[in-house]
Amino acid sequence: MAERDPGLSKAAPDLAAQFRRDVLEGLSRKNKVIPARWFYDRRGSELFEAITALPEYYPTRTEVGIFQSSMSQVAAQVGPGRAVVEFGAGSMAKTPLLLDAIAPSAYVPVDISGEFLRDGCAALEARYPDLPVIPVEADFTHPFALPAEAGHGARLGFFPGSTIGNMAPAPAVDLLRAMRQTLGDDAMLLIGMDLIKDRERLIAAYDDAAGVTADFNLNLAERINRELGGTIPLDALAHRAMWNERLARIEMHLEAVRDIIFEVCGHSFEMTAGETIHTENSHKYSRESADLLLLAGGWEPVAHHVDDDRLFMVVLAGAILQGRTA
Ligand code: AVI
Repeated sequence: MAERDPGLSKAAPDLAAQFRRDVLEGLSRKNKVIPARWFYDRRGSELFEAITALPEYYPTRTEVGIFQSSMSQVAAQVGPGRAVVEFGAGSMAKTPLLLDAIAPSAYVPVDISGEFLRDGCAALEARYPDLPVIPVEADFTHPFALPAEAGHGARLGFFPGSTIGNMAPAPAVDLLRAMRQTLGDDAMLLIGMDLIKDRERLIAAYDDAAGVTADFNLNLAERINRELGGTIPLDALAHRAMWNERLARIEMHLEAVRDIIFEVCGHSFEMTAGETIHTENSHKYSRESADLLLLAGGWEPVAHHVDDDRLFMVVLAGAILQGRTA
């Protein structure tokens, strides 16, 4: 699988320099933190794919189940002839479920990684020979102009996987607003959002018995050693997943199990036993908090599709016209 770093800016192509800056800055803080986007090198992307198939990791298969059971309703709500714009298109694994149902005018996958886009597009073009497939390599966290070939009709944004949950509320709202601006006035958005549920189930999903999520988390330290000449003693770091009830989010950390000193790019860092590096947040929503986030981002919820066990939610929303409140 190709490397993908979903939040990287096209305006700053020097990924190695950004990675170095984020790591050195994050490790220098009192509460050490490294942005989750750096998980996704080749190995990290492979481990994430493995996570999605784990018995404890319910989001992927639950969202697919919702698509399978609700897509005809979604199609009726969306109508035919829209250009589908998929943000962070990635493997495009869920895309056929949507394209099969809604008779789109075009498909526009958007991803920061051109290599990743090309892989997915070839398979889709073979499957839908009559559908214009127009890949766009862009940082979708900022508004961007859609190519003319996407047409000037109404658009449907597609953002599955609860990727929005990896952002804190303020940047999540900024992202929704950017999507709103990119897609235009008649747009709709189909977005996956993970629901708040019992703590045990949440923790198990991020701390699976086979240790795949632990490997995913630890791969970040391995990547620092590989790419930034780090000397982090990997056997001194342990994967931790905890539920932060107040902020409704799973937090992943790498915790030092003993006092350690290590170097990254010639800079020295210390961690005392019990100290952590915060590596990821995965926010969970109630229907109310999901709606508030969408409204703040310029989208009015139209329909909520939820599985029978109330684990995951797919929301269809319509663009709020500028200057109007919902
Ligand atoms: C990509 N993202 C939605 C995943 C999540 O559930 O937050 C990333 C992940 N981290 C650990 N497991 C999966």
